Amino acid sequence: MLDVRQLAVNYRQVQGIDRISFHVNPGQLVGIIGPNGAGKSTMMKAMLGLIPSASGAVHYCNCPLHQQLQKVAYIPQRSAIDWDFPITVWNVVLMSRTRHLGWFRRPGKGAKAIVKAALERVEMYSLRHRRIGELSGGQQQRVFLARALAQQAEIFLLDEPFTGVDVKTEAIMLKVFDELKNEGKILLISSHDWGQTLYQLDRLLLLNRGLIADGTPQQVMTPENLCRAYGTNLQNSLQQNSDNTMFC
Ligand SMILES: Nc1ncnc2c1ncn2[C@@H]1O[C@H](COP(=O)(O)OP(=O)(O)OP(=O)(O)O)[C@@H](O)[C@H]1O
Ligand SMILES: [Mg+2]
Repeated sequence: MLDVRQLAVNYRQVQGIDRISFHVNPGQLVGIIGPNGAGKSTMMKAMLGLIPSASGAVHYCNCPLHQQLQKVAYIPQRSAIDWDFPITVWNVVLMSRTRHLGWFRRPGKGAKAIVKAALERVEMYSLRHRRIGELSGGQQQRVFLARALAQQAEIFLLDEPFTGVDVKTEAIMLKVFDELKNEGKILLISSHDWGQTLYQLDRLLLLNRGLIADGTPQQVMTPENLCRAYGTNLQNSLQQNSDNTMFC
C-alpha cells in the first residue's frame, strides 16, 4: 500500500502543498485534479523526494518510498522535458532500463524485448528510429508512457499525460492505464482533461494546496467541493468540460 502522510512543501515565497494525507491500494487508478497552481506537480515531486518537503512521509509497503524509487515510474509535466534533446525514440525508452542494467553494460536481448514490447503497446514501435523532437505532442507522450512501461514499475506517477494529445493517443493511454490497473499497479494521474472519463475513475483527489476531497467522482465533484477548490474560476475551468451545472 502507498501511504502519504501529512506531506507539506514550502517554496521560498509560497506554500506548495499543505499537509496532504491519503493512501492507495494496488490496482487503483487515482485521478489528481485541481486548478493551476493547486500543487499537483509539487505533490508528485515531493512524494519522490525530488524536492524537499517541510513535513510528512511517504511509505510504500511500510518502507520509505525514496528508498525504492526503482519501483516508481514518473512522467513529469510536458514543460519540464527537453524535447529538443537529440535522442531517438528507441533510446528514450531503452534509457529507462539503465538502472536495471548498470551504466556500462550493453543492453541484452531481454532489455531489447522489454523496450520493443513497451513501444508496441503504445503503437510507437514503427517510429523507433525517429528523434523525439520530430514527433507530434501526442506521439511524444506515448513514448514517455512506453518508457514508464519499460521500467516495469509498481507505481506510476503521471503528471498531465493528456496534454496536447489527440483522440487516438488518449484512447491508447486509457487502455494501457486500465491494463496496468488490472495488473495490480498503483496509478496516480493528474489531468485537466479527463472530460467524461473522470466519472469512470475509481477515485479522485481534489487539491488546492490542501486536499479538498478524496473519494469517488460522485463524492468529490460536488458544487461545494468544486467551489472550495476553484473559487470564482469554477465556471471557466470546469463547466466547459462537464455536464454538471455548478454555482458558487
Ligand atoms: N520551483 C518553484 N519555486 C517556487 N514556487 C513554485 C515552484 N514550483 C511551483 N511553485 C508554486 O507552487 C504552487 C503549486 O505549483 P504546482 O506546479 O505544483 O501546481 P500544479 O497544480 O501542478 O499546477 P498546473 O495545473 O499549472 O500544472 C504554485 O503556486 C506555484 O507557483
Ligand atoms: Mg502541474
